[in-house]
Amino acid sequence: MLEHRTILITGASSGIGRALALAYAGPGVRLALIGRNAERLEESAAAASVKGAEVVAAELDVRDCDAMRTWIKAQDAAHPFDLAIANAGITTGLGNEGSSEDPEAVRALLATNLFGVLNTVEPLIGPMCTRRRGQLAFIGSIAGLRGLPFSPAYCASKAAVHAYAEALRGRLEGRGVVVSLVIPGFVKTPLNEAISAAKPLEIDATRAANIIRRGLSRGKATIAFPLPLYLVARLARILPPRLVDRLFAQFDVNVPETRERVRP
Ligand SMILES: NC(=O)c1ccc[n+]([C@@H]2O[C@H](COP(=O)([O-])OP(=O)(O)OC[C@H]3O[C@@H](n4cnc5c(N)ncnc54)[C@H](OP(=O)(O)O)[C@@H]3O)[C@@H](O)[C@H]2O)c1
Repeated sequence: MLEHRTILITGASSGIGRALALAYAGPGVRLALIGRNAERLEESAAAASVKGAEVVAAELDVRDCDAMRTWIKAQDAAHPFDLAIANAGITTGLGNEGSSEDPEAVRALLATNLFGVLNTVEPLIGPMCTRRRGQLAFIGSIAGLRGLPFSPAYCASKAAVHAYAEALRGRLEGRGVVVSLVIPGFVKTPLNEAISAAKPLEIDATRAANIIRRGLSRGKATIAFPLPLYLVARLARILPPRLVDRLFAQFDVNVPETRERVRP
């Protein structure tokens, strides 16, 4: 079992990230939490402190490569991370009737869900390899297993994260660094609540965090849940593509467009 005492979590001000912070919080644990909303981030930090963790929280935008690098490297130099969880993410989609996504929304999404993930792990890969110790966890999505006709850019961002994590795993594990890819189905969070759809086998964020924590402590390569939904998504990859397209076309799903935009 891997022991995690010094942990970085992005997107810790809400949903799965906050639940992960609380799942790990306890005496002897140091949490470094990143989010943008100061008030919600502080709520997460305070709740984790009450559980006995030492907490440091930074209002950072994961899209800000320089700020992320500077803060993460400084934290790691003082308190080397055992585990970094690249969790922060947003969603966007085609809405009810759309046939193309706003290019600005798409770029904001990729800046967060893909480049934000790179900005989180890149500062740590070298130091972890030097120490021959540490774990990198990537929060992907079942939506990254097969493109869904409701949210092209979101699916693309998560597919990219999956491929990146898998590639790193093959290279870094010989260098003492464990890489885990988390593939959640529906988890009840503000992100998910904005989406109008049937959400089969939805679970709450606390349960998701406990599943993720257990999988990470076992050093699992892939932590996918719930299993039936994961298997259906895997099946959708091997069935004839147009058959799967026709099946998806039957679903009534509205993934609204994000209001996030890339900063000038
Ligand atoms: N919920 C689901 O059903 C589900 C399923 C599969 C995968 N996921 C993935 O799980 C991850 C967490 O999502 P969630 O459901 O917990 O959503 P959430 O409740 O909306 O939380 C998202 C978190 O990401 C942070 N974030 C977003 N953009 C950021 C930025 N530019 N810089 C820093 N932090 C940023 C938010 O912080 P601020 O609000 O402070 O900006 C917030 O803490 C995402 O990667 C999501 O794609 C979720």
